[in-house]
Amino acid sequence: MCGIVGYVGKQKAASILIEGLKRLEYRGYDSAGIAVLQGARIDVAKKTGRVDVLAKSATRRRFTGATGIGHTRWATHGGVTDANAHPHLSSDGKFALIHNGVIENHAGMKKFLLEKGYTFASETDTEALVNLVAYHYEKEPVTDGKSRFLESVRRALMHVEGTYGIAILCTDCPGEIVAARKASPLVLGVGDQEYILASDVAALVSRTQNVVYLKDGELLHLTPANFSIITQDEEDVSPVVDRITWNIADAELGGYRCFMEKEIFEQPAALENAMRGRFAEDGSTALFGGLNLTPAELRQIGHLVFLGCGTAWHACLVAEHLIERFARVPVEVDYASEFRYRNTPLDRDTLFFVMSQSGETIDTLGALREARRKGFKVLAINNTVGSSIARESDGGIYQHVGPEIGVASTKAFTSQLLIAALVALHIARMRDMSFNDGVEYVKAVKSAPALVHRVLEQAPRIREIAKRHAHYKDMLFLGRLSLFPIALEGALKLKEISYIHAEGYPAAEMKHGPIALVSPECPAVFFAPKGEIFNKLVSSIQEIKARHGKTIVITTEGCELPPGVADELILLPDCHEAVLPIVATIPVQLLSYYIALERGCDVDKPRNLAKSVTVE
Ligand code: F6R
Repeated sequence: MCGIVGYVGKQKAASILIEGLKRLEYRGYDSAGIAVLQGARIDVAKKTGRVDVLAKSATRRRFTGATGIGHTRWATHGGVTDANAHPHLSSDGKFALIHNGVIENHAGMKKFLLEKGYTFASETDTEALVNLVAYHYEKEPVTDGKSRFLESVRRALMHVEGTYGIAILCTDCPGEIVAARKASPLVLGVGDQEYILASDVAALVSRTQNVVYLKDGELLHLTPANFSIITQDEEDVSPVVDRITWNIADAELGGYRCFMEKEIFEQPAALENAMRGRFAEDGSTALFGGLNLTPAELRQIGHLVFLGCGTAWHACLVAEHLIERFARVPVEVDYASEFRYRNTPLDRDTLFFVMSQSGETIDTLGALREARRKGFKVLAINNTVGSSIARESDGGIYQHVGPEIGVASTKAFTSQLLIAALVALHIARMRDMSFNDGVEYVKAVKSAPALVHRVLEQAPRIREIAKRHAHYKDMLFLGRLSLFPIALEGALKLKEISYIHAEGYPAAEMKHGPIALVSPECPAVFFAPKGEIFNKLVSSIQEIKARHGKTIVITTEGCELPPGVADELILLPDCHEAVLPIVATIPVQLLSYYIALERGCDVDKPRNLAKSVTVE
């Protein structure tokens, strides 16, 4: 949700900023822009559209400066226009600012600044902030050898309500950037005689693997020779330099058509990474290093609450199913965005889990804070080391699947399902699950990568099915028990990348309403795996066929379906219940992906979306 990047060093900043923006483009692609300090002037290039459009216009300009900032926008305040694109200049031209977040009190700020004679060229909330910095710069005396630039940003931010990750240039301060964050991520790359600042490590991993994660309320001051961090209350912060394990290949396509395709096909390896080192030596349970709970504490848990958004919320629903089924602990699942304002009554023996790939989703972060404020422990299942959610939780489990760049979540989702299966096992083995059942369960989880690989081998067949279904306007996804969340996920994948209207529904609920939608024009993707309710699932499919509905049936190898029930058939390898949701996800990912390709959609950058939703 908006990507920001900054550079201070010895190279020409413009090309480094543009390369960084290309890697951050998944965070927003309404417009892009850069500002470069050139002597005592700030030169700006900004354009609606993709970073490539900006790159073309920037190469026609002579950007020679070695200090600059860049932004790729997901519009919140103000339409998608060149004027609303970042960077924004203060009306005196002294400051340029890029911003990820929302300044909630921008209207009052703007009114105040208009009265003081400042002028505005855009409809954005950001322009109020850059002018407020200029106002404080003019107003503040320089004291105690402090940086006047840093001090005016600090004072301006004291008046801001809302969220921000910002980076600012000042014409009086060549070679300097001031940056700050509150609820929007910022990471500093410490390179060889250079610093790169970005919303996430994808933008800087090609130049350095040494990083400093900024915390909420911190301000960073970059100069050509050094950097320093202070808090909003002017306390010095001793920076901790971390080393990131992602490398540049993780952030590149490597021969795939797009990141979504790459991330679908790398799921066997991603699942291996997510489970590596997480099994006990006796082969009967899972181990986690970061839960920060003793076995006795875990045994005393009476209730679990899982919170997440979107795809991660679907993973929470699977966690609910697996934990209740195997560990026999009651689980509540809530949308993080609802939980944070609902004030749900909670038992004292409740443990929270939040699920978030990015670790920056503002609703999930807000829910985490709310649960912790009430005194509950919150653990995070998260893919991004150093993210806000990772830092603010009481402990947790990293997904370890590398950066997920495609906007539609794929490998992060299946790894969340895998970790949910391991959490269920871990708790189950502390309660009633036998050693032998634990061993069988562990074997099943270990087989997940190979099973996923077998489903991926059906990609050419699924592509053919996709070709026959790409023209529909509506689709249903139906499943029961642990595959109901996978039906929801299938519908979400299809609508977000192909713009086909799709609904996920519990299969048996069809007859209570949605069956009215069934027609030859609305195909139904139906999960009917082997199991106790297989015959009931077949009956539900027959209800659809009786109404001339078209069906794509996803069932288990060896299951016999009555003739004529499946217009299209996709087979899953027979597997343990713990891994069934993972295996069953693959066909709906592939189906959605190939349908979107057939329709000519830009699957990595679906319209109106952005990865990592850092606004409410
Ligand atoms: C859909 C998708 C989103 C995210 C949601 C939460 O494909 O990716 O629904 O799952 O925005 O994101 P995280 O997991 O980063 O909190």
